[in-house]
Amino acid sequence: MKFFIDTANLDQIKEAQELGILDGVTTNPSLMAKEGITGKENILKHYVDICNIVEGDVSAEVNAVDFEGMVKEGEELAALHEQIVVKLPMIKDGVKAAKYFADKGIKTNVTLVFSVGQALLAAKAGATYVSPFIGRLDDISADGLSLIEEIRQVYDNYGFDTEILAASVRHTMHIVDCAKIGADVMTGPLSAITGLLKHPLTDAGLAQFIADFEKGNK
Ligand code: E4P
Repeated sequence: MKFFIDTANLDQIKEAQELGILDGVTTNPSLMAKEGITGKENILKHYVDICNIVEGDVSAEVNAVDFEGMVKEGEELAALHEQIVVKLPMIKDGVKAAKYFADKGIKTNVTLVFSVGQALLAAKAGATYVSPFIGRLDDISADGLSLIEEIRQVYDNYGFDTEILAASVRHTMHIVDCAKIGADVMTGPLSAITGLLKHPLTDAGLAQFIADFEKGNK
């Protein structure tokens, strides 16, 4: 499973990259705003800065909601850096734009996906990634992980190449569960990723090893 970090924070991206486990980055307009990145020039520069930190795919979301606007914005984003993946909303024009970019060999990530039907459309349009938002489904008492499972089944039935990018991952067990189901990629916050490191028996075992070594090597 590929690990993407879901942030526009350069320090956190660097930290994940230095851990040696990072395969890419996802951003969205809310995450850019959270970092205070505003204005077209600054936003475009920030995407390039992210691409210069990581080696893998970097999703950059369009703000337009009409086909022509998405194509114009997406082409501009894709021209910034070879690692850029154009992120498109799961709406009618977003599906049309995904097909347009697929025909041009430009990678896309169809975002805001909340149903198997939407995921099926994204795959039919030739999206590189589909992003089902599991945390936001859990937030409304729906079952985000079941959605990943169902999309996995449908994509496997037909051998779709579109990768399932489990998004809106909120905590460490989401990552583990997505891996069990067979999501191709997960994107989550740094805290969920570093949470995978933690086990009290590892800490206790290491403390014992250090103490025993020190006793014998005074
Ligand atoms: C996906 O690419 C989105 O950026 C993200 O995962 C949304 O997560 P949230 O529901 O925690 O905002």
